[in-house]
Amino acid sequence: MSTSTQLRETLADSLTETGALTGPEWRGAVSAVPREVFAGSYFRPVPGTVPTSYRPVREGDPGWLEGIYSDETLITQLDRQIRPDDVAEGTAIGSPSSSSTLPSLVLRMWQQLGVEAGHRVLEIGTGTGYSTALGAHHLGDANLTSIEYDPVVGGAAAVALKAAGFAPRLIIGDGLRGDPDGGPYDRLVATCSVRYVPLPWLHQVWTGGKILVTLSGWSLANALVLLDVTGPGEATGRFLPGYISFMIARPHGRPPRPALSLLPGDERPSEIDPTQLDDWTGGWVAQLAAPAAEHLGTGAV
Ligand SMILES: C[S@@+](CC[C@H](N)C(=O)[O-])C[C@H]1O[C@@H](n2cnc3c(N)ncnc32)[C@H](O)[C@@H]1O
Repeated sequence: MSTSTQLRETLADSLTETGALTGPEWRGAVSAVPREVFAGSYFRPVPGTVPTSYRPVREGDPGWLEGIYSDETLITQLDRQIRPDDVAEGTAIGSPSSSSTLPSLVLRMWQQLGVEAGHRVLEIGTGTGYSTALGAHHLGDANLTSIEYDPVVGGAAAVALKAAGFAPRLIIGDGLRGDPDGGPYDRLVATCSVRYVPLPWLHQVWTGGKILVTLSGWSLANALVLLDVTGPGEATGRFLPGYISFMIARPHGRPPRPALSLLPGDERPSEIDPTQLDDWTGGWVAQLAAPAAEHLGTGAV
């Protein structure tokens, strides 16, 4: 048994113990999909750095393969352009813009989606293609379509999926528009977050189908929601428990603005204790109330 195969089994065991993996079908997917094919190089945050700096980890580096089979998100792109292999030495600073989501979350979401044999599924946010490969293993290539916004990221995912033996339908484009030519779908899952549920999704999933997506916004508060489509253009649902966040869909990102020190306006004490915004639910409610506001830290305490 190769080290990779062993590490996959160890990961599957620990995901089963924590309850992230509940059935044999998804366990089979974890055992079969080599994550290193999808995130062969990745960034690791350097603890204690402000702003966070990231150290590239490549094949041959100490802990490379163990890192890949840890239940952690592997960041694979910063600032929509810097990939780990672009950083020849030292570290890089930037905002994570693509990644392989931590396996426990990917698997929980596939299971929460209630996917059954024969379902046709649309995934938004192919990223490295790891979650796509897990889905394709379970559903079959013909039942899965995945959309990625970034052509470089999507191109790398296509190569990795082929190398791992999968051939789902892949689209480079804006997933917020869905897949007008490929629907309707039974299920839609997004691994990027959105400020609001895009209307095309509500028309491209059958009545009785489900949508699983994280809602977020410019204050960076997040909440995972599972929606039942109740008719063309209509859905209803509930928030699911857990502290789940995803990078926001690129067209929903906050607009560019000057540095905080250059913004107009006066500083004044807040009537509300600002620490309430650091609370998961408090931040979410504030973001709902003021969707165009941004929550920023000054570094001052
Ligand atoms: C967290 S990563 C996806 C992780 C991926 N599912 C995996 O397991 O590797 C989010 C991805 O969503 C993509 N993305 C952002 N906005 C998008 C959009 N409007 N349509 C499709 N993909 C988008 C980003 O480029 C990024 O690659």
